[in-house]
Amino acid sequence: MKTDMDKEFKSIVDSLKDTRNITRDQFAYLLQSDGEDNIEYLFEAAREVSEMVFHKEVYLRGLIEFTNYCRNNCYYCGIRCGNANADRYRLTEEEILSCCDMGEILGFKTFVLQGGEDPFFTDEKVCALVRKIKEKHPSCAVTLSIGEKSYESYKKYFDAGADRYLLRHETANEEHYSKLHPGSMSGADRKQCLRNLKEIGFQVGCGIMVGTPFQTVDNMYEDILFMQELQPHMIGIGPFIPHKDTPFKDEPEGSVDITLRLLAILRLLFPKVLLPATTALGTADAIGREKGILAGANVMMPNLSPSNVRDKYLLYDGKICTGDEAAECNQCMRKRVENIGYHVADTRGDHPDFAN
Ligand code: SAM
Ligand code: FES
Repeated sequence: MKTDMDKEFKSIVDSLKDTRNITRDQFAYLLQSDGEDNIEYLFEAAREVSEMVFHKEVYLRGLIEFTNYCRNNCYYCGIRCGNANADRYRLTEEEILSCCDMGEILGFKTFVLQGGEDPFFTDEKVCALVRKIKEKHPSCAVTLSIGEKSYESYKKYFDAGADRYLLRHETANEEHYSKLHPGSMSGADRKQCLRNLKEIGFQVGCGIMVGTPFQTVDNMYEDILFMQELQPHMIGIGPFIPHKDTPFKDEPEGSVDITLRLLAILRLLFPKVLLPATTALGTADAIGREKGILAGANVMMPNLSPSNVRDKYLLYDGKICTGDEAAECNQCMRKRVENIGYHVADTRGDHPDFAN
């Protein structure tokens, strides 16, 4: 009978921690071996590294979901343009600015503006918005997450004052990418967007969903190789959760266990990277976000969107916090962080290479 702690597992974790590298076979071993003690050893190593860099501080980002219109039709996403049941909305500039005002009162130092790829929000509108937010809240960072744009558009956003950009690459494998998206979209384009964003000077976040249909261990290893090449400042990882009005409605949910293992492996590979414990992780498991922090994550994103639109930004079924006010989410999140012995940072929470 196999003991709970196996030598091979331990030596892979030790070597990963020392070398900040992992082979394909070592990666598969860490994802596929059982044994609570093994997994706890991996999480403990990741926690140690995250504590060394971030000193048990968790960075909070106020998430403003400002439009659920989207011109794309990704097979997994609840706000895809093909979903006629989605109840579409756009926040006005005033509404977005008042979310930020509320956010600053609640103590947030970063606002994440996320939305579908909505042509209504032209570059001019996005830049005007970014400028106004930075004028009113000069000590806060602005993160954009509005999809694939041209180099010129990204440059305009950066020049307007945006600090960070989140664009999950979804999967680094082109064949897998084509099984998750219609033919009009390409993984190569998405990767190029990330390279452009980095070149322009943004703090850049890539990332994937864990457990998307057709995903293999080799695909995930390819994601790691891509991340090693890109050297992102943030990596967004959450389980895939099906949405009832998408082609993937009957597909199984991604595993929380694998998501946590991947978070821990990424922390060991990229000690300084910003790693959110995502809403999807909190949806798949009631204490998923706490588990994420204890597996090496260091960021949480409470929802700042007005409560009357929250139940409309539904990327997947069962999304948490759709009935809460911003202040409730903020309180809840802070309590969750303290309950596990961490504390909320009062700085902007930049990537260590960008912090002054
Ligand atoms: N339009 C922007 C973009 O493409 O980056 C931002 C919004 S997009 C909806 C944000 C992320 O939600 C996607 O990158 C994807 O990884 C995640 N997402 C979409 N559908 C999901 C699902 N069914 N389960 C879990 N995450 C999902
Ligand atoms: Fe929103 Fe808990 S984070 S209610």
